Amino acid sequence: MSNSVSEARGSGRAKLILFGEHAVVYGKPAVVAGLPRGARSVARTAGADTSTITLRSADDEVMADRVVSDPNGEPLAASFHAILQQFDARAPVDLDVTLEVPVGVGLGSSAAMAVATARAVGELFGEPDRVDDAVRASEEVFHGNPSGIDQLAATEGGLIFFSRGERIEAAPVEAPPLTLAVCQAGPAASTAEMVGKVAARKRREGQLVDYLNMLVGDTARTATEALREGDWSRVGELMEINHGALCALGVSTAAIDAACHTARQAGALGAKLTGAGGGGCVFALTPDGADEVLAAWKKAGWEGFEVTIGG
Ligand code: PMV
Repeated sequence: MSNSVSEARGSGRAKLILFGEHAVVYGKPAVVAGLPRGARSVARTAGADTSTITLRSADDEVMADRVVSDPNGEPLAASFHAILQQFDARAPVDLDVTLEVPVGVGLGSSAAMAVATARAVGELFGEPDRVDDAVRASEEVFHGNPSGIDQLAATEGGLIFFSRGERIEAAPVEAPPLTLAVCQAGPAASTAEMVGKVAARKRREGQLVDYLNMLVGDTARTATEALREGDWSRVGELMEINHGALCALGVSTAAIDAACHTARQAGALGAKLTGAGGGGCVFALTPDGADEVLAAWKKAGWEGFEVTIGG
């Protein structure tokens, strides 16, 4: 081992897809934001000859505790195994991960965890140049064929324009600080299932779904301009258009629509689902602060939080 430390730390960001989910699967552009919160990992040289992983919630409750022995085992241990395999050191590690966001609700918890862990292990082993490959290997365990949008947001933070047409294109979007309210409107849903639902609609109504995807892509492009200019009322309106298209693609739910409606009633300039839909999170645009939207959500039974991106 070329390292000189026995303990190292890393962090990774959670993400919100602001514009373009689902259409991004068909090569249309999207806008993603890396959040100031996500995951924190501590990697220590292991006391025994097998690696271990402990996963904690933000309030320090142990959610999982695993010995990492089977590369084809359940995803948490398998993803950590995949990370370790990318480093030359191949030495056992005790890993402690704290997740600051809920799992499986469209906030990119797996990529945040992978970036935090790969950074910590990269520092422990003195191999920082292996971090990106290690994150990719972990994301492949969770998502099979990840688009890379979560990894980018988890690594870079800020606002990013992303497109995976012929080739992957990614560029930071320089915008004034953007304040949003985020809440979990429904239980976690399977991304693969929701992507499959859109694919099935496309098989039945190909041209109409192509129109919707094109509309979403153009919305993401226009929103990039509006974000750069800090034109919040336009950004809000574009969120409404994007959310309407997601409803037409069949990935919203009654709870998601109700949470969006509640946010608008409480003064948000726009609200939409984020990520795969079918449950999970909603966000609202609140340039003057999220207090009123958060209070309205709380009254209706949804816990949320405020985030500011950039600035
Ligand atoms: O909910 P998430 O974070 O898994 O987001 C999925 C975004 C999709 O566009 C629906 C799928 C994808 O691979 O980009």
